Amino acid sequence: MKEIGIGVIGTAFMGKAHSIAYAVAGTAFGGNLRPSLEIVCDQNPDIAETKRKEMGFARCTTHYMDVINDPKVKLISICVPNSVHKEIAVAALAAGKHVWCEKPMSTNLQDSQDMVDSANIYHQQKTIVGYNYTQNPIVHAARDLIEEGAIGDVTGFFGVYDVDNEADPERPYSWRMNRQQSGTGANADVMCHLVSVAHYITGSDINRVVGDYDIVYKDRHDPKTNTRKAVDNDDVCMAIAQFENGIKGTLRVSRVAWGRKCGLSWEVHGSQGMIRFDQERLNELQLFTPSDDPRQQGFRTILSGPYHPPYDAFLPNAGHSLGYIDVKACELNQLLTAIDTDGKTWPSFADGLKIEKVMDAIDRSAMNGHWADVV
Ligand SMILES: NC(=O)c1ccc[n+]([C@@H]2O[C@H](COP(=O)([O-])OP(=O)(O)OC[C@H]3O[C@@H](n4cnc5c(N)ncnc54)[C@H](O)[C@@H]3O)[C@@H](O)[C@H]2O)c1
Repeated sequence: MKEIGIGVIGTAFMGKAHSIAYAVAGTAFGGNLRPSLEIVCDQNPDIAETKRKEMGFARCTTHYMDVINDPKVKLISICVPNSVHKEIAVAALAAGKHVWCEKPMSTNLQDSQDMVDSANIYHQQKTIVGYNYTQNPIVHAARDLIEEGAIGDVTGFFGVYDVDNEADPERPYSWRMNRQQSGTGANADVMCHLVSVAHYITGSDINRVVGDYDIVYKDRHDPKTNTRKAVDNDDVCMAIAQFENGIKGTLRVSRVAWGRKCGLSWEVHGSQGMIRFDQERLNELQLFTPSDDPRQQGFRTILSGPYHPPYDAFLPNAGHSLGYIDVKACELNQLLTAIDTDGKTWPSFADGLKIEKVMDAIDRSAMNGHWADVV
């Protein structure tokens, strides 16, 4: 067993999620590489010191280059806003570090391409992008069932990801509603997750789309200027998609859908059945096959259990349920295993770029009203 030095940059929702995953990885998975929490970074010095103590890091800093230059650090988590991902990722790879970067990769295709170019140059280092909804053991089981032919030939993918983060019309204006500062809206923030699932679960990439946007709340009150400011990116984003393997599907996301807290749900249609999943019930898979007596046909609920690895790393009994953070630990385990065995990760930066290209095609199509190739 060897130690691997860890640096985490950013300490909010995702910085904490990554740090908990590092703390539990050894206990849950064993494995040859044991994370050693070396240094945590936040631009706010008080937060950096508080998080260092709370999360058990040896050192803290306000400058991300201290993390990158730290000789004890071998693996870096990027958990800061999207606009800073590229500069950190490129510097970290050049310094010989493995990188676990949160999604989306960046705010524009060129930056994401630069990240892939760096990963190609420094190919000894592993990369993974935080598309955690593809890391749930029962989602892996769904893909296995599909590959084994449980629903026959795959004929379509249909997915939704709705959240209510901005559903209140009285919610104030923020940088998230500004195309220049945040890029696209629901497309960048949540569509990317849905595309990651579509690619993972079908085993095929989207290659052509027609997209459309809706800005439901056209202006919002800006507390900084005490004026109404125009919202210029999408509250709702919809796409019809064609996949490389010939299937078609639809994808719809919204950030203004009251009541949907993490409303990611998808279904894969097949010639001999269907599989459905709902992230708000993340330990359940719904499977329909028409093989039963028609009087008994219906979707059956499969509860996650130790026969859906790596559920068994956490619990010996079925139905006791994994949570979001456990899934984040599964994501980390995939990365640690790849580092230890010189194996592959999914989604690597190269896989992540394919996802970003779909979002870019949806954006182009929504702007000009035509089908767009994913290029
Ligand atoms: N995988 C998921 O399910 C998921 C969920 C939420 C967010 N995210 C992604 O994770 C990333 C972070 O999101 P969040 O919600 O934790 O963000 P946040 O904006 O709430 O927090 C960002 C943190 O980074 C710090 N920070 C900002 N700029 C910095 C810099 N230059 N140097 C050091 N520290 C800096 C801030 O002080 C703050 O602690 C984003 O890319 C976001 O899209 C992923």
